[in-house]
Amino acid sequence: MLDQKLLEGWTLPSEAYLSEAFAQWEFEELWPRAWSLLGDSSVLKEPRSYRCYDFFGESLVLIRDSQNEMRLLSNVCRHRAGPIFKKQQARYKSLTCQYHAWSYKESGELLRAPEMGQAKNFKLSDYCLPRFPLERWGPLLFSRLREGTSFKDWLGEISSEVPPELLSRLEYRERRDYSVRCNWKLYVDNYLEGYHLRSVHPRLSRELDYEAYRSETRAWHSRQWAPTRQESNIYTEGQSPEAHYYWLFPHLMLNLYQGILQTNVVEPVGIDECRVRFDWWAIPEVSAKRLEELIGFSEEIQEEDREICEWVQKNLRSRFYRQGRYSPTRENALHHFHQLIESIKKQIS
Ligand code: FES
Ligand SMILES: [Fe+2]
Repeated sequence: MLDQKLLEGWTLPSEAYLSEAFAQWEFEELWPRAWSLLGDSSVLKEPRSYRCYDFFGESLVLIRDSQNEMRLLSNVCRHRAGPIFKKQQARYKSLTCQYHAWSYKESGELLRAPEMGQAKNFKLSDYCLPRFPLERWGPLLFSRLREGTSFKDWLGEISSEVPPELLSRLEYRERRDYSVRCNWKLYVDNYLEGYHLRSVHPRLSRELDYEAYRSETRAWHSRQWAPTRQESNIYTEGQSPEAHYYWLFPHLMLNLYQGILQTNVVEPVGIDECRVRFDWWAIPEVSAKRLEELIGFSEEIQEEDREICEWVQKNLRSRFYRQGRYSPTRENALHHFHQLIESIKKQIS
């Protein structure tokens, strides 16, 4: 049965895509509580190696320590905010700040602070580097900045639907970043519905069965079924067309098909600009040529989505438009996303 709110409801108002105040609320309240993809779990192979990340505007560092344990720490020194590490990835001898040489243990505790002996009420133990949770699922590493929903609840049914034997064989292959001049939510909105398939993606719509296309919403994610029309096409090459397309709140997409995992992370760059990061993992049997072919096709679709999203962003400034209605059969996942945003906004404002 269809949700009454979906039948009666209105989309997020245009202010949500245009206002500084809304973006500020997201920066302070939404993003720090969000689970997100950090990257590939096999990125650090040797003990005493690190990799730096920009995670929702936070400078973080992932280390594989001398005991071979992975930890995620803040890369912002507790003295006057200097960087502990400056390169993107390298080996390390110690965790020493590059500014005035305070040094930290691999656990994040402050070990030495030169010439601070006379400072009053100064205890090394008060100045640890913040540490963040690390969760691994298949080849992916996830984290978040503040307490909130557990990782298990956030991932929900996905953990049992994707075969572990597929996940364990995936290897990291490629990255592409795309800049789109629209609010990050608009890009997510567009991903969440197949309603635009025929108008925006003529070539893709020849491959997919629009009538059978549907979305199912769960607690923190939704899943789309996009069955292919014929047995053999760009996606399947004659193999079984089993595919999993997930969106996880608020900005991560996991697309699994034919031995490939493609992730999309939609990051805000400004109110009306976002960066969409595509990363590809694949099982060894997927040749470089085959992957190139799929990336080429995905770029064609991405370009079509970029163009329509940029039009909508511009049109949201119209004096005569504020919000719209949902197609009950085609936009249930979009409605689910908006409901999550609205309910969190109500709880934490
Ligand atoms: S900022 Fe790190 S030691 Fe001064
Ligand atoms: Fe699209």
